[in-house]
Amino acid sequence: MTTTDSPPVEVHLTPSDLAAALAHDVRVGLTSDPKWLPAKWLYDEHGCELFEAITELPEYYPTRAERAVLQAHAGEIAAEAPATTLIELGSGTSEKTRLLIAALEAGGSLQRFVAFDVAEPTLRAAVSELSSAHERLAIEGVVGDFERHLDRLPKGPDRMVAFLGGTLGNFDEPNRLRFFSTMASALEPGEWILLGTDLVKDPERLLAAYDDASGVTAAFETNVLAVINHELGADFDLDRFDYVARWNANLERIEMGVRSNGPQSVHIPALDMKLELADGEEISTEVSAKFRRVGVSRELAAHGFDLVGWWTDPRGEFAVSCARRTTMSDSVAQ
Ligand code: SAH
Ligand code: AVI
Repeated sequence: MTTTDSPPVEVHLTPSDLAAALAHDVRVGLTSDPKWLPAKWLYDEHGCELFEAITELPEYYPTRAERAVLQAHAGEIAAEAPATTLIELGSGTSEKTRLLIAALEAGGSLQRFVAFDVAEPTLRAAVSELSSAHERLAIEGVVGDFERHLDRLPKGPDRMVAFLGGTLGNFDEPNRLRFFSTMASALEPGEWILLGTDLVKDPERLLAAYDDASGVTAAFETNVLAVINHELGADFDLDRFDYVARWNANLERIEMGVRSNGPQSVHIPALDMKLELADGEEISTEVSAKFRRVGVSRELAAHGFDLVGWWTDPRGEFAVSCARRTTMSDSVAQ
């Protein structure tokens, strides 16, 4: 049977929730020292388009590398983790996820796919496309914040939560550990988490991926200022900021931000706030941590997950790992 109905989408973030959360984050972040903004505000409609353009840049290898892993190993992942429900956090267009969905369907286990993202228009478009392509599956969307709404994940049994693309790396360490701990409470013993993590490598290759020659990443990171202009009536002049990306070798992460080109003041009427920026002062817009197998495995184990699979692309640049929430008997056996 064909249906023209759109898939159901549960909304935990209405436009007014989003406006209140943005106002809170901008007030906290821009009155901190150093100044910073959470990465989730990069993804308005224009930001989502810019991210899609990033995934096609010659320098930005992570999307192609993760796709290569899924192309080669989705069948093994499905055999290791025969989930009946697949939930994808930060799903975006779910483009690579189709490989996983196909493998889980071919394995005969999958009944339901739930996409979870803060960006409502992108999420709605993705679930509509998926539901036309997979008529046998129940396809749903959840508009939510994976830092606030993981207690509202759809119930099981036999769920796999996929967090692909390297988005885990966009948390700082305390938030990453909080994420693992929330996932451990949200999942039942025996259920799975599937992580896409970009791996530590030559800083030159990393920096090229995050500071591409055509300036798309610069436009993506600077766009957060346009979001604040649009939503809070601010008067950031985007031309008076330079994009900065650097490799932090101690924390093994790329740090991205915008740097004030000259001293300037910015008015944010909705917050009744005047921001003074010194020449060269930076606002951090995003971090992108890079991983090693030993670190991923250790952090998972510390939160009650056993690493049951680790797959990389042929160049060893990106890993997809599968971990199982341990059961009581697993911990007794250890
Ligand atoms: N998984 C896709 C998209 C990665 S881009 C891929 O691999 O290509 C990161 C995605 O996470 C975007 O779609 C963005 O809207 C979403 N996102 C970022 N912060 C979020 C948050 N706090 N809660 C929910 N989704 C978030
Ligand atoms: C979504 N996330 C994994 C991307 C990354 O690689 O950290 C976001 C990004 N920022 C700049 N380029 C890509």
